[in-house]
Amino acid sequence: MNKECASTLFVSEETLLAAARAVAPRAYAPYSHFTVGAALLGEDGQIYTGCNVENASYGLTMCAERNAVFHAVASGCRAFRALAIAAPRPVPPCGACLQVLAAFCPSAMPIVLGALDSQDSKRLTLADLFPSPFTL
Ligand code: THU
Repeated sequence: MNKECASTLFVSEETLLAAARAVAPRAYAPYSHFTVGAALLGEDGQIYTGCNVENASYGLTMCAERNAVFHAVASGCRAFRALAIAAPRPVPPCGACLQVLAAFCPSAMPIVLGALDSQDSKRLTLADLFPSPFTL
């Protein structure tokens, strides 16, 4: 197996958090100045990133986590192994993002919450944060 294949099959949570930290500066957050980066590890071994994108019509703002999910789905990946989020301080996904994540991610999926400017981080699972998702 060549080096490129190996790197896509074995992605550490540290690498995933580094990807979330790397995308956060691309956030468009002129209103809150709260920049968020999210990195989802797909079952295909690829990392799908997203950042928050705000709007003058505040309710149109899209969170980093949902942008990462939509990026992955549009790229053909619908199953995930782990999520990392980087923000000014370690913060969990909002309720709307948790409901979207629950549509695609196993409840035992690890979620790493990291700070942007320090090594502060927490690790929990989707079920810890959202034990009872809505289903039809
Ligand atoms: N935000 C996220 O990107 N993810 C969340 O789960 C919560 C909040 C963004 C939305 C908005 O641009 C900023 O953080 C402040 O709420």
